[in-house]
Amino acid sequence: MDWKSGNDAILEMDELIKQKKANPYEGPLKIGVDLGTANIVLCAVDQNNRPVAGVSRGANVVRDGIVVDYLGATKIVKEMKKELEEILGTDLDYADAATAIPPGILEGNAKIISNVVDASNFKVTNVLDEPTAAATVLGIENGAVVDVGGGTTGISILKDGEVVFTADEATGGTHMSLVIAGNKKISFEEAEEFKKSAPQEEVFPIVKPTVEKMAAIVHKYLQGHDVDTIYVVGGASEFDRFEEVFEKETGIKTIKPVEPLLVTPLGIAFNVNK
Ligand SMILES: Nc1ncnc2c1ncn2[C@@H]1O[C@H](COP(=O)(O)OP(=O)(O)OP(=O)(O)O)[C@@H](O)[C@H]1O
Ligand SMILES: [Mg+2]
Repeated sequence: MDWKSGNDAILEMDELIKQKKANPYEGPLKIGVDLGTANIVLCAVDQNNRPVAGVSRGANVVRDGIVVDYLGATKIVKEMKKELEEILGTDLDYADAATAIPPGILEGNAKIISNVVDASNFKVTNVLDEPTAAATVLGIENGAVVDVGGGTTGISILKDGEVVFTADEATGGTHMSLVIAGNKKISFEEAEEFKKSAPQEEVFPIVKPTVEKMAAIVHKYLQGHDVDTIYVVGGASEFDRFEEVFEKETGIKTIKPVEPLLVTPLGIAFNVNK
């Protein structure tokens, strides 16, 4: 997939999720299950990686790739599977599915993530790492994929399609909300809401130093690697000026797909059966 068709697929999945609708499809579906710190997303695509339907939900059952509430996670994925089945009008029991883990996570933890998907009656055919999932959608073989999620920022460097370096830092959207809460003297929940719904001219100046810090951290990791483009994904990169700040701080061209929040979930679905 190239950058443009990747963006088109992301936009289409975004619409399907918002409208709770399904595209017509033929053949078996491939299901991607993204168990994130802030969001759980299920994406269904056909064998040609065409988006068919999806569901997304805020959840607190996984932290940085580690399942902190196994029963809760399983319950949510089961409910979301049911929701997806209703949208599709079809049964998804034992449908081929994949899930992903942040790079560098221990094998035992990866197994638990895959058990959650398995316990929801999907057939897990692949557990891949998140940057690989994102890279598939973006159609990139070289560069750095920086996934700024809720709890963590994952940095992965790709060379000729292979992940050659990964790192994880405990910074992300949660950190931004904490800064907003302190600045505006409001609760974390209110800050989270403000961050996502207030005009960006009001929000961004408050979180800009945090974004600069994230960029400085990323820059440090990229030293000694030949990286000419940074691709930012993940919900916390949603701000319009995010990539501009990154580019200024690192001196490296930085680009962001249309809906950074959906890149990894969609990429997981693309990688079913691989
Ligand atoms: N429109 C928005 N503007 C700013 N931040 C946003 C927006 N939408 C979502 N976020 C933030 O993005 C974060 C969630 O992103 P994402 O879904 O990529 O994380 P995750 O995959 O659940 O977490 P992780 O990858 O750390 O496990 C949250 O901190 C959320 O507040
Ligand atoms: Mg994530």
